[in-house]
Formats: sequence, structure tokens, C-alpha cells
Amino acid sequence: MLRPTIVTTALLGVVTLAIAADVPPGATYVDPLAYDVLGPNSTWYAIRNDSTVGFNPTNTTTPYIQVFDPSFLSILAPNATIRSISSNPGFAFAHEAPIYDASNNLLFFSSNDGGPLGYNGWYNNSVVSFIYMTEVDDAIEAAGPGENVNVQITTLELADTVQMVNGGTGLYKGNLLFVTSGRALLPPSIVLVNPNPPFNTTVLLDNFLGRQFNSLNDVKILPGTDIIFFTDPTNGWGHDFRPEPMLPCQVYRFDPSTGQVRVVADQLYQPNGIAFTPDGRTVFVTDTAISSGFLGQTFPATIYAYDVDPITQSFKNRRVFAYSDSGIPDGIQLDTMGNVYSGCGEGTHVWNPEGTLIGKFFLNSTTAEMMFTKSGLVILDEETVYLVDVLAEGIQLGTV
Ligand SMILES: *[C@@H]1O[C@H](CO)[C@@H](O)[C@H](O)[C@H]1NC(C)=O
Ligand SMILES: *[C@@H]1O[C@H](CO)[C@@H](O)[C@H](O)[C@H]1NC(C)=O
Ligand SMILES: *[C@@H]1O[C@H](CO)[C@@H](O)[C@H](O)[C@H]1NC(C)=O
Ligand SMILES: *[C@@H]1O[C@H](CO)[C@@H](O)[C@H](O)[C@H]1NC(C)=O
Ligand SMILES: *[C@@H]1O[C@H](CO)[C@@H](O)[C@H](O)[C@H]1NC(C)=O
Ligand SMILES: *[C@@H]1O[C@H](CO)[C@@H](O)[C@H](O)[C@H]1NC(C)=O
Ligand SMILES: *[C@@H]1O[C@H](CO)[C@@H](O)[C@H](O)[C@H]1NC(C)=O
Repeated sequence: MLRPTIVTTALLGVVTLAIAADVPPGATYVDPLAYDVLGPNSTWYAIRNDSTVGFNPTNTTTPYIQVFDPSFLSILAPNATIRSISSNPGFAFAHEAPIYDASNNLLFFSSNDGGPLGYNGWYNNSVVSFIYMTEVDDAIEAAGPGENVNVQITTLELADTVQMVNGGTGLYKGNLLFVTSGRALLPPSIVLVNPNPPFNTTVLLDNFLGRQFNSLNDVKILPGTDIIFFTDPTNGWGHDFRPEPMLPCQVYRFDPSTGQVRVVADQLYQPNGIAFTPDGRTVFVTDTAISSGFLGQTFPATIYAYDVDPITQSFKNRRVFAYSDSGIPDGIQLDTMGNVYSGCGEGTHVWNPEGTLIGKFFLNSTTAEMMFTKSGLVILDEETVYLVDVLAEGIQLGTV
């Protein structure tokens, strides 16, 4: 049972207490001023010597909504809670590649590729499934306020050309648009999948002038165009389901009408999530270097912003947008107010357009991706899918 937490730290004034009292029952206010000075003997230093452990100073029962700035409340629905809508302990069926098909009210996603709970690797493929959000709405209605539900998912039978789906966006001209990481010597690729049975597929790209990509990770369309941008880190090699990389870790631009592929950004350790602002003038790219064990905790867990060159569409003027205090910033999505959401070490973090951390959906486990739907914000948490009641809406991702 989630309860409001009234922060009673002596450092806080009357105004802060009033804000804390106003947070919804499923949320807890964490005033940064109360934690700026922890002193020499804080137990947090040893706990947080591992970036995958989150900062939960109020020791609130998870999952819950952690509010760092009162502006975060405008994102949340009244009485917002985080509830589980589908779970399968022991199988990481809900990892990444969320695509929301609004007309059918279906959310598609892929299982974990290469991770310990994905049951796949060099010899076995991952899977793509969908959850019917109308069924979720009905189950929630029947279950009552705040109760968890467990809606069955449907797993697709896809062609063998689709190996290790890791990123997705769309709908792209009516189709699901996935990037695959490839598996063993089978190449990473960009594929279109029919969102309706028989879920037939068309491969659009599977090499860079004769060289296989490393393990494609994520993809977005430049708003107002049908040009595809995608990232290519080496996580397939890192998870032992791809051979040694043939290319640097880069971000690419692909024009399906001409077939031309070119590099738009490099000098990233592990480019991962990607998202454009709706005007197409700014792009965010996450770098997950910190998770590549041997690199250590001093390496980036960082979201970079770039300007999209209006002529060439190359990425320029790179700057830090935000550093994630927990784990890695993985998939990335924007709402229509310009807030930036990324899947991190202990849940989903939300920054305002200036890069100030305003809140977290704190799950106490690593989440890679999330997607806005008509029912709320769906968070993919490997063995569990969560739904948060939000007023915020996602930006348009598809193209007609
Ligand atoms: C920190 O711990 C040390 C050793 O136990 C103690 O001497 C010191 O007073 C503590 N400092 C604070 C600020 O509590
Ligand atoms: C953090 O971890 C490193 C490596 O294990 C260790 O050397 C160091 O003493 C730790 N620091 C703290 C404050 O626990
Ligand atoms: C946090 O809460 C748990 C469960 O209520 C409790 O066991 C633990 O001691 C608490 N930790 C701190 C630091 O208060
Ligand atoms: C929020 O919860 C309170 C107390 O349970 C209830 O009175 C109120 O109607 C709820 N508001 C909404 C919008 O659900
Ligand atoms: C192959 O992968 C699927 C889906 O990821 C999983 O259900 C199945 O158990 C795996 N099979 C083996 C032999 O690991
Ligand atoms: C699926 O098959 C239909 C019928 O042949 C075709 O029109 C459509 O383009 C195919 N879709 C994909 C994504 O391959
Ligand atoms: C988070 O999960 C770990 C185990 O993975 C557990 O030890 C810890 O108590 C949990 N923390 C909270 C705040 O629930």
C-alpha cells in the first residue's frame, strides 16, 4: 500500500511541507535541499558506490513516484500510481522496442536480448510480443483503484530475418519499424513488420556497403520526414551474441528512397537511445559507456543533445543534456511539453527541457524503455510491465 510521505526534515520550511502534503498518494517528495549535505559518515557513500543502486533517501516502498521538483506534479494524473499490468517472473519478456499502434490500441515490445533472463544468445533468438491496452483498461476497471492486474501478452511468429529486435518506432507508413541487433553471424538490420496478421516482414537494410553493423540498438524518424536515424553500439559483442565489431560505435542516417546510409555522429562510447524534438531541430542521444564493465564508473551515463543541421541532417554542437545518477540512460522518449524520459538504473527518470531532474518513476530495478499510450505511460521492466497514470502525452513518432 502506497502512502503520502510528509517530509519532516528540520532543514525544510513550511512551504516545502505544503508541497509534500499535496503530492498524490503514490508519490513522495524528495527536496534536493534536504540532501545536499550528507556529512562525512553517510551510509549512502558505500551503498551508491554501485551506480545500479538507486537513491531512495525516504526509504519509500517501491514502486513509487519520486518528485524532485513540484513541476513534476503537472505530468501526473490526480491520485497517480504505478501499477503492474503484466508480469512473468523468470522471463524478461518486456525489454525494449516499444511501438504504440493507436488505431488498434496495441503496444508492441521485444524481450531482452542476450541478458541473463532473456533465454537467448548466440544460439537462440529473442521475441516480439504485444499487449492489448483495451484489455488492460478493462482489467483495471474491474480490479479497482491502484490494484495490479496481469494481462496476457501475445507473442508474434516473425520471419527468421528478424534476429534480436532491440529498438522500434512508428508506425512508419503503417508498419512497425524495428532495428535488430543480429545474432551470431546473422546481420543486424532495419525491418518493417506488418502490425496485423500474418506479421510479414520486409528487410530495408542489413549492411553498410558490405560491412555488417555491430548490433543496432535504437531508432527514430526525423519529424516531418521519412528518414531513419539509428544507433550502433557493441552490446551484442558485450553480451556474447555477436562477433567482434566491424565498425566504430556510431549514429547513422538512412534514406530508404535512395538507399543511402551515412554517419551523422561518432565519438560516443556506446550510443544507445535516440529521440528528436517535434520541430526536428534538436536530437538527444544516450551514451551507456558506464555499463561496459571494464570502463568503470567514471565513464558516461549521459544524454547528449545536438543540433540537427538543417541542410545535411548531421548532428552538431554536442553538449551534455543530463547525466543519470543511476545505471545508464537507455531508451529515450519526449512528451509534448518537452520533458525528456529515459530508462535508467532504478526506473524511469524525467528531466525538464533545461535538463533539470524533476522526478523518477522509481521501481528499484533497471528499466530500458517506456511508451505513452491512451491509458498512460507504460514502463517496460523486463519481467514486469508497469502503467503510470499521467496527464503528459507523448510526441508524434510515426510517419504516414
Ligand atoms: C563520523 O564518525 C566518526 C568516527 O566514528 C566520529 O568521530 C565523527 O564524530 C562522526 N562525524 C559526524 C559528523 O557525525
Ligand atoms: C568503492 O568501491 C571501490 C572498489 O570496490 C573501493 O575501492 C572503495 O573503497 C569503495 N568506496 C567506498 C566509499 O565504499
Ligand atoms: C528501509 O525500510 C526497510 C523495510 O521497511 C527496513 O528494513 C530498512 O531498515 C529501512 N532502511 C533504512 C535505511 O531506513
Ligand atoms: C483521489 O483520492 C481521494 C481519496 O481517496 C478521492 O476522494 C478523490 O476523489 C480522488 N480523485 C480522483 C480524481 O480520483
Ligand atoms: C529461446 O528463446 C525463447 C524466447 O526468448 C525462450 O522462450 C526459449 O526458452 C529459449 N530457448 C532456449 C533453448 O533457451
Ligand atoms: C505484407 O504483405 C502484404 C501482402 O503481400 C504486402 O502488401 C505488405 O507490403 C507486406 N508488409 C510488409 C511489412 O512486408
Ligand atoms: C531494492 O532491491 C534490492 C534487491 O534487489 C533490495 O535489497 C532493496 O531493499 C530494495 N530497495 C527498496 C527501496 O525497495
